[in-house]
Amino acid sequence: MTKTQILFDPVQMGIHSLPNRVLMAPLTRNRAGADGVPKDMAQTYYAQRASAGLIVSEATQISAMGKGYLDTPGIYNEAQAEAWHKITDAVHAKGGRIFCQLWHVGRISHTSLLPDGAGPVSSSDRAAHTQTFTAEGFEDCSKPRALSVEEIARTVQDYRSAAEWARKANFDGIEVHGANGYLLDQFLQDGVNDRTDDYGGAAKSRMRFLDEVLDAVKLVWPSSRVGVRLSPLGQANDISDSDPEALFGAVYKMLSGHNLAYLHVVESFPGSKDVEDGKALLGRLRKEWGGFYIANGGYDAQSAAAAIGEGASDAVAFGRPFLANPDLPERFRLGATLNTPDQDTFYGGDEHGYTDYPFLGAKDGAQ
Ligand SMILES: Cc1cc2nc3c(=O)[nH]c(=O)nc-3n(C[C@H](O)[C@H](O)[C@H](O)COP(=O)(O)O)c2cc1C
Repeated sequence: MTKTQILFDPVQMGIHSLPNRVLMAPLTRNRAGADGVPKDMAQTYYAQRASAGLIVSEATQISAMGKGYLDTPGIYNEAQAEAWHKITDAVHAKGGRIFCQLWHVGRISHTSLLPDGAGPVSSSDRAAHTQTFTAEGFEDCSKPRALSVEEIARTVQDYRSAAEWARKANFDGIEVHGANGYLLDQFLQDGVNDRTDDYGGAAKSRMRFLDEVLDAVKLVWPSSRVGVRLSPLGQANDISDSDPEALFGAVYKMLSGHNLAYLHVVESFPGSKDVEDGKALLGRLRKEWGGFYIANGGYDAQSAAAAIGEGASDAVAFGRPFLANPDLPERFRLGATLNTPDQDTFYGGDEHGYTDYPFLGAKDGAQ
């Protein structure tokens, strides 16, 4: 059995001293108000998980047009930032660190979720053959239209403005969500991006939008407080690329030039099949990135410790295990049994399945 001690060795992530390498992955929970303002129960939820080396918040839309699911939170106005400030305060009071995941869903949306019944936007007008969750339940995504060059520039400014609100909310940093088939990924990957202007065609052009977003948020935050999430084996949300190795090799290189806090890679997503096939590709890509690397997707304590021990990652983010185990690092340290995630309460609902997962040794539910 692999020794898991390495998970609890403190590690320096640039300027950030992380007390352990067991990080919390971003987890959408659909429990904010319709106005994108997180509810008070989110303070308890995140504070319960403050023993993570780092918390990455659930995906948080940068604008009303960036929304794609019912009751997800935003970070584009004062009321939202105030509510997030209470959450970051609660995490900091417990000694934790929290980054805000900045999100624009692009075409993974539905007219009923967007201002004035607008249609979703993307790199092209290719519809996503997938569903999103609306007030009516699961519905097919609405057909998108391609953003104009002027609209891309405005969206870059939306990222900058959201980064400012995240700063006001006293996050420790931001993570730009470039993964899982959402807007930035819809520009990166040519299964969606069929543009013939400066934002389409060669890999260099397809990654221009992400590059510009990073330049914009770095006007607000030092690069040591900016991370990026990618999913080079992307399958989620009907995304694909004709040559992922060439594309993501170029993207990793571009990111290296930004001196970021970290690169966070979704190596596999629940339900994906070709995990093993993708490992070699991920390993080759990893060489193009010289900085702090966070791996995610299907890890347990043993495989996470092995990955860190081999130098394949610097830390590991846990999604479903952290969702169900507020004291995950302590459980890993003790080799204790884990609570089982309840899928029925993942998306939407109240405190049940959110703040009532028991801590170790708790007799009456959560502490
Ligand atoms: C309920 C749920 C919500 C998720 N929400 C997000 C999200 O907001 N942002 C994101 O980048 N990934 C999201 N993911 C993906 C997770 O961050 C993670 O990549 C995935 O669960 C695989 O990690 P795991 O095997 O440790 O759970 C979500 C996954 C689940 C199960």
